[in-house]
Amino acid sequence: MITIRKIYLADLDVLQDISIKTFVETFGSSNTKENMNIYVHNSFNNLQMESELTNPDSEFYFAEAGNKVIGYLKINFGTAQTESKHYNSLEIERIYVLNAYQKQRVGQQLFEKALAIAEEKRCSYIWLGVWEKNAKALHFYKKNGFVEFDQHIFVLGDDKQTDVMMKLEVKK
Ligand SMILES: CC(C)(COP(=O)(O)OP(=O)(O)OC[C@H]1O[C@@H](n2cnc3c(N)ncnc32)[C@H](O)[C@@H]1OP(=O)(O)O)[C@@H](O)C(=O)NCCC(=O)NCCS
Repeated sequence: MITIRKIYLADLDVLQDISIKTFVETFGSSNTKENMNIYVHNSFNNLQMESELTNPDSEFYFAEAGNKVIGYLKINFGTAQTESKHYNSLEIERIYVLNAYQKQRVGQQLFEKALAIAEEKRCSYIWLGVWEKNAKALHFYKKNGFVEFDQHIFVLGDDKQTDVMMKLEVKK
């Protein structure tokens, strides 16, 4: 049985651990060690994670199997969104599931949590950016009704990569 639980500052260490583990599992084989290290150092250090966990416009959720954390979700609203042009919207900044637990609908449950929150808050749409070479995630979001609306450059260390921007209208 998988449970989805909202997390807080007290969960910082566990969040840091799964954030690094899933990021390296997902992107380690297609990027240089140097660029991975720069990203991990900048994005998952204590100060950065603390400020994200205490931002009132961001929420984090763990997916747990028993006591084990197997995935997580990060969503943003308002000014916490990574792009400033979105209003009355919810950004899914991260959905990550450990490799060993993928294809068991854990990602689906995390996504449905984000959708339920977007409906509850009466957001107009959900949006996100996904690396153009991340076929698994592209398939996952398309399957869930997301459509491409733009492309942006994402910088990983010294590598400029193209992110596909996708959105899903939220039914009122
Ligand atoms: C994308 C991700 C969250 C999906 O989570 P999941 O728990 O595996 O997904 P679910 O079991 O709910 O759904 C399975 C769907 O995921 C996708 N998927 C998962 N593993 C896949 C694989 N090995 N190959 C292709 N598609 C895959 C497919 O869309 C699949 O749908 P299908 O039933 O049509 O095959 C997960 O693969 C993941 O964490 N990937 C690494 C992190 C990542 O890329 N996150 C997105 C960053 S924007």
